[in-house]
Amino acid sequence: MSRRNDAVVADIAGHAEGDLKRPLLVAGAGGVGREALDTALATGLEVAAFLDDKRAGETVRGLPVIRPEEAPREGRYLIGIADPQARLRLMGVLEGLGLVPVSLVHPRAIVAPHTEIAEGCLVQGGAYISSDVTLGSHSQVHYNATVGHDTVLGERVTVYPGGNVSGSVSLHDGATVGSNAVILQGLTVGEGAFVGAGAVATRDVPPRAVVIGSPARPIS
Ligand SMILES: CC(C)(COP(=O)(O)OP(=O)(O)OC[C@H]1O[C@@H](n2cnc3c(N)ncnc32)[C@H](O)[C@@H]1OP(=O)(O)O)[C@@H](O)C(=O)NCCC(=O)NCCS
Repeated sequence: MSRRNDAVVADIAGHAEGDLKRPLLVAGAGGVGREALDTALATGLEVAAFLDDKRAGETVRGLPVIRPEEAPREGRYLIGIADPQARLRLMGVLEGLGLVPVSLVHPRAIVAPHTEIAEGCLVQGGAYISSDVTLGSHSQVHYNATVGHDTVLGERVTVYPGGNVSGSVSLHDGATVGSNAVILQGLTVGEGAFVGAGAVATRDVPPRAVVIGSPARPIS
């Protein structure tokens, strides 16, 4: 289900009171997971636990880390992991358990009108998402990244810090834009493709390609 951003923000601000009683869980206790926690805290939401197989039994930022399979069934979750394949796997596990994905938008991110943010997305502080943009489910726009008007992000897309995605770009499922990379207007970045840090994409990027440099070319 896709929602307009004002609905997402309203949920986070306490509009859906029933939902707020359900524990919020962050999947992944690594860097992005802790940034997701920071985003939740900035919106005034408490996180009950991290879900992370590798760190189960530890305490991270004062929160328990449990296995995803141990998540309370009434929980809401956000995946705080950059790898789109890991996000796909975890989504399957958590939705199989009946957990509901939620999106978090940092209060210091700007999301323009007529932009739609699907469930499970993370928008970090300093991000600017222009108008008439669509974010597919479980996508992430990291701090200080920008996404131009009419751009469409598929599912599990990642725009790393400072990434600059111009207007009318299509980022297909699982695509990643590295830190400070630039995608020129109107281009398509194919499914699972990776635009390296600092690259300038001047042409479409084929599915699963890894490109670097300016102009961006496939990594050798
Ligand atoms: C593009 C990328 C995915 C390639 O990763 P990789 O396949 O592991 O590549 P390697 O590190 O083995 O590097 C291979 C070669 O490409 C070069 N290279 C790697 N990334 C590069 C980049 N972004 N720009 C220019 N050259 C790059 C390396 O210097 C190396 O060159 P060499 O063989 O002459 O030494 C990765 O380097 C990258 O840019 N990731 C994005 C990181 C990022 O934005 N992180 C945000 C975290 S918050």
